[in-house]
Amino acid sequence: MNPTINSIKERRAVRAYKDKAIGKEKINEIIECGIWAPSARNNQPWKFVALTNRNLIKKIAKRILDKIINNPRYPFVRERAKTKEDPILYSAPLVIFILGDKNNKWNAIDCSLAAQNMMLASYSLGISSCPIGMTQFLKEEQDLMNELGFDKNYELVLTLTFGYGNEEPEKKERTKDVVKFIE
Ligand SMILES: Cc1cc2nc3c(=O)[nH]c(=O)nc-3n(C[C@H](O)[C@H](O)[C@H](O)COP(=O)(O)O)c2cc1C
Repeated sequence: MNPTINSIKERRAVRAYKDKAIGKEKINEIIECGIWAPSARNNQPWKFVALTNRNLIKKIAKRILDKIINNPRYPFVRERAKTKEDPILYSAPLVIFILGDKNNKWNAIDCSLAAQNMMLASYSLGISSCPIGMTQFLKEEQDLMNELGFDKNYELVLTLTFGYGNEEPEKKERTKDVVKFIE
């Protein structure tokens, strides 16, 4: 199969990683593929914060987990907590925060395009990933935001975890009946 189409169809959200660091060259390549995403007017309204510090990754995940573990809106987190030490960032060796310029109205779209590029690039390098919306709760944790050094003019759009996969998730089927052709 065409390798691009193969990556698009075979990439999965992976939530268990091997205890193996990702080399700097590969990290840079993944981020560069994010930077090559299209953006409205080529404004490139993004910044990337790549975190490999295991202690800080653990600290962030625990803070978020403590905050939401009893929230009935997130039963799947409680479920995952039964088997996973870290059901938020999955003890990933690499976490990349994608921040969007608050003054750019397309920032969420542009950052999301960058995110998908990065996940497909990593997949093609044999590295698994998972998009993490749960880090939205970081916005309420100013001390952690400070520790991460987020630019005050930028907001967190999406977080991605990366690592060498330690599970092969089943393919989650897609609904195909969502297309209308007008010929
Ligand atoms: C915006 C967004 C936020 C997500 N947040 C989380 C999350 O916080 N935790 C998680 O485990 N998965 C998260 N996911 C992953 C989805 O659950 C996953 O992509 C979806 O179930 C489809 O599975 P697949 O990616 O393996 O095809 C998120 C995905 C997206 C696009």
